[in-house]
Amino acid sequence: MQRLQHKVAVVTGGAAGIGRAACRLLAREGARVAVTDVQDAAGAALVAELLETGAHARYWHLDVANEAQVQDVFRQVADHLGGIDVLVNNAGSSGADRPGRALTEAEWQRTIDLNVKGVFLCTRHAVPYMRRGREGRGGSIINLSSVCGIVSAQDIPPDHASKGAVGLMTKTDALLYAADGIRVNSVHAGFIWTPRVEAMGERFERGVEGYRRHLERLHPIGRVGEPEDVAHGIVYLASDESRFVTGSALVIDGGYSAR
Ligand SMILES: NC(=O)c1ccc[n+]([C@@H]2O[C@H](COP(=O)([O-])OP(=O)(O)OC[C@H]3O[C@@H](n4cnc5c(N)ncnc54)[C@H](O)[C@@H]3O)[C@@H](O)[C@H]2O)c1
Repeated sequence: MQRLQHKVAVVTGGAAGIGRAACRLLAREGARVAVTDVQDAAGAALVAELLETGAHARYWHLDVANEAQVQDVFRQVADHLGGIDVLVNNAGSSGADRPGRALTEAEWQRTIDLNVKGVFLCTRHAVPYMRRGREGRGGSIINLSSVCGIVSAQDIPPDHASKGAVGLMTKTDALLYAADGIRVNSVHAGFIWTPRVEAMGERFERGVEGYRRHLERLHPIGRVGEPEDVAHGIVYLASDESRFVTGSALVIDGGYSAR
């Protein structure tokens, strides 16, 4: 099924984890995919894999916290792939896992720059290509927030702060751009088994397998999420099936935040 035929999708942080799964599913549904990341080798490898399947994809190096790069890359994407219809603001990280009193200002700022400023800059420079008008044809912006943007826990303060911000930025932008035909929604994943989460397990006292079992118990559905679980939600929000959905928060968390 080609639910995204004729659409151009930009995915930030697309070389690994949830971003990579999103690129694969978006391409499978017929989108032309701009894979962007700071991990150039992994991004190029993913594009090679997508091209093998007959998909249309291309890689660009993009640090989402660098405005000049964002502006330049989005212009190139629009030129080479024929516009921008979908932006997946996926690049992000949970940052340092210590109480605020033990965090440095630089650690705090790094997470805010990546998770919040990155969404601001990418949205700002994608909107001109999406606005209805001579070139634009509306669009869909999908912001990766988290369950950590809905409920709190005794961990990762920069993540809770930044993902909470992304949740409300989503609603504000949904209101501001609705008249331009641009929908803006957030996705709130529970723990998803990605390289970053696995690396967190390496620091866990009972090791990676112990960490996975610990996370399984946090999700009423009885398992940790897989990147594809989130990518399916991203495809729905990217597609016209969600044409009446904007300003919404799609929770994909195995019941984590239902308690
Ligand atoms: N994995 C989870 O459990 C989980 C849960 C909730 C929300 N999320 C959110 O989903 C998104 C993806 O998470 P993930 O676990 O797949 O992460 P990941 O660390 O596995 O992958 C993130 C990707 O972003 C890239 N990246 C890092 N800094 C960048 C920058 N400055 N500019 C552009 N790209 C950059 C990395 O190179 C990497 O390819 C993040 O926003 C994360 O906060 C993840």
